[in-house]
Amino acid sequence: MQHRRLSFLDKLLCEADAVLKTLSSRGERASRPSPAEGHRDTRLSEPERAHVAGLMRVNHTGEVCAQALYQGQALTARLPGVREDMLQAAREEADHLAWCEERLRELNSRTSVLNPAWYGLSFALGALAGAIGDEVSLGFVAATEERVGNHLRNHLRQLPEEDRKSQLILQQMLEDEQRHGEHALAAGGTDFPQPVKDAMSVVAKLMTSSSYRI
Ligand SMILES: [Fe+2]
Ligand SMILES: [Fe+2]
Repeated sequence: MQHRRLSFLDKLLCEADAVLKTLSSRGERASRPSPAEGHRDTRLSEPERAHVAGLMRVNHTGEVCAQALYQGQALTARLPGVREDMLQAAREEADHLAWCEERLRELNSRTSVLNPAWYGLSFALGALAGAIGDEVSLGFVAATEERVGNHLRNHLRQLPEEDRKSQLILQQMLEDEQRHGEHALAAGGTDFPQPVKDAMSVVAKLMTSSSYRI
């Protein structure tokens, strides 16, 4: 089949569709079943339920940011040799988004109202990194995944021992994010200097502390 070049309007419509899918809580179905599927839910105390919901809301916002980052990069990056890898990673991020959303529903909770703002910021950063060059773009993915891995490990330590469902979701996400980071570096991504990573951690902290509550 012959592929026609997308016009600017086509790209704009694709982008609007992606934004709506990510932010509307009616995104694309996950390509893999949730790792929590088939596992019995446990009865949590109210403070435990609220805490787990806060953590899962943070993870959900992180996945909204991942979608925005990939969308932003897709707009400006060239990435000819690694496009397939990036597309596979983006599909896995869509799974994470759906799994977190589902778990939040099971916990009788909701996604963060701040998601549109974080989407906008991540989209802009992804587009900027992509415009600078593929090494920076891939380096940005690697440094982001490193930050995400740190907070997933932290959340896994905080989950109640009996909440198997949330544990299984976060464990699979951690495995996927580590692979995304490794692939981005192996594909030629720049290993960002520590001060840049520290600045990214400050922004990530702002995201996690706000999404936990609102
Ligand atoms: Fe993810
Ligand atoms: Fe990832």
